[in-house]
Amino acid sequence: MSLSKKVILITGASSGIGAETAIHLAQLGASLSITGRNKQNLNKVAEQCGQPKPFVVVGDLANENDVKNIIDSTIKHYGKLDVLVNNAGIFELGTIETASLEQYDNIFNVNVRSVFQLTALAVPQLIKTKGNIVNVSSVYGLRPTRNNLAYCMSKAALDQFTRCVALELGSRQVRVNSVNPGAVQTNLFRNCGMSQEQRKIFFEQLKELHALGRNGDALEIAKTIAFLASDDASFITGVTLSVDGGMHAMPPSINMPLLV
Ligand SMILES: NC(=O)c1ccc[n+]([C@@H]2O[C@H](COP(=O)([O-])OP(=O)(O)OC[C@H]3O[C@@H](n4cnc5c(N)ncnc54)[C@H](OP(=O)(O)O)[C@@H]3O)[C@@H](O)[C@H]2O)c1
Repeated sequence: MSLSKKVILITGASSGIGAETAIHLAQLGASLSITGRNKQNLNKVAEQCGQPKPFVVVGDLANENDVKNIIDSTIKHYGKLDVLVNNAGIFELGTIETASLEQYDNIFNVNVRSVFQLTALAVPQLIKTKGNIVNVSSVYGLRPTRNNLAYCMSKAALDQFTRCVALELGSRQVRVNSVNPGAVQTNLFRNCGMSQEQRKIFFEQLKELHALGRNGDALEIAKTIAFLASDDASFITGVTLSVDGGMHAMPPSINMPLLV
């Protein structure tokens, strides 16, 4: 599979799945625009991508001007866009009884609203290139769990966004798909306030919720994103592709036992 001559914009490329995706897509020959808030981490990822060095644009996706600048500066730099990878996301714990409206707004601003804005700004470019979009959702867009209400809702909204926009843009040959990962050990869980000890127990317990009996690796998600972004997936649009070791197919269980 080759992604040479493809210009690909990846959000949340400073860490975890997005960082691994940037490195993998660079190895496949893509020209990258990588974005996140942490400039130092973005520069480290850019170094790991090698040559041609990715274009780095720092921005907060919760800020409308930053979102606009991410697209504008990418187009100014490369002159076109072939693929948008909406990967950035945040995760917080909370139930209908404990989550605040502030938490709901924070999660929806990053996981849904910014995706809506960034995609809308990217679409005219993607129509020109007959490009595609890959959204990074979650098994929790497809399946419910406890104590993770706003996050689950945000990923369910993202999945419907994938299907609706795929229908809207199909006649213009723009494909829109999502990957729905299972558990992958990244900074997502450190940033939501879990201690190192809690994360250790949490990931140990999560293993048995996957049919394969293990958690995932960021590279496994990156490889699936690369496939959907590539011409090898030319007849695939509107899918929510589970990359979760069979977690979506497991019988109902008490998820997140540590945290309920
Ligand atoms: N890890 C898992 O188990 C798992 C499972 C299912 C789905 N996912 C999804 O995978 C995606 C990537 O998560 P990850 O696990 O790789 O987490 P991560 O390591 O915490 O990375 C999250 C990325 O999102 C960026 N980000 C967060 N808020 C932002 C904001 N306001 N503006 C700009 N960038 C922002 C971060 O950039 P900065 O740090 O530079 O701000 C970072 O690069 C997310 O959408 C997540 O929901 C993860």
